[in-house]
Amino acid sequence: MHEKNKLSEIEIREMTIDDLGKVFHLGEELFTSEFSSSMYRTWDEYEITTLFNSDTELCLVAELEGELVGFALGTTVEKNHSSWKYGYLVWIGVRPGLQKGGAGHFLFKEIRSRMVSQGVRMIVIDTDADNEAGIRFFEKQGFGNTQKHVYMTLNLSKPQGKRRKNKK
Ligand SMILES: CC(C)(COP(=O)(O)OP(=O)(O)OC[C@H]1O[C@@H](n2cnc3c(N)ncnc32)[C@H](O)[C@@H]1OP(=O)(O)O)[C@@H](O)C(=O)NCCC(=O)NCCS
Repeated sequence: MHEKNKLSEIEIREMTIDDLGKVFHLGEELFTSEFSSSMYRTWDEYEITTLFNSDTELCLVAELEGELVGFALGTTVEKNHSSWKYGYLVWIGVRPGLQKGGAGHFLFKEIRSRMVSQGVRMIVIDTDADNEAGIRFFEKQGFGNTQKHVYMTLNLSKPQGKRRKNKK
């Protein structure tokens, strides 16, 4: 049987402490420096442990025949002066080779339902502008209202160029 045909047997469950290492290594496979050239969002062990400590209910894994094949990690955010509670889907990933088989959708469906139970009224995501597959995936889940975000750097190791004189 082709690997993807098995995905109907996929199980989504809450992440446990035993999953931490597997999730971390799958994330390392997915979120490489080629995946995101900026340092704006970096995958490291603190991402998982922090979210696992603060929002266990929003840390999910997808399992196929006892093997971890995907994960979704989220949190909720409340803003000052806003009665709305926001859900932030921080990371979602599916094992290469099993992508486009529905696992991402099942993970999203479950995290969305859990966020709704927690009173979330809007879910936000962010990803690199050139992550076309990811963007298509989020659009398919109903996301829209795309807003561009500018990321800039200042290299402090380079000699400073001429600065405009202060007119004062
Ligand atoms: C994004 C990701 C989690 C989607 O998971 P998935 O299991 O592959 O997604 P699904 O199979 O549930 O796809 C659902 C829909 O998303 C769209 N989609 C998913 N992958 C796509 C791709 N590579 N290209 C175009 N559309 C895609 C499709 O429209 C698909 O619907 P369809 O099957 O009816 O055509 C997975 O591709 C992944 O791990 N990508 C790398 C990590 C990443 O980019 N994460 C998002 C930022 S944190």
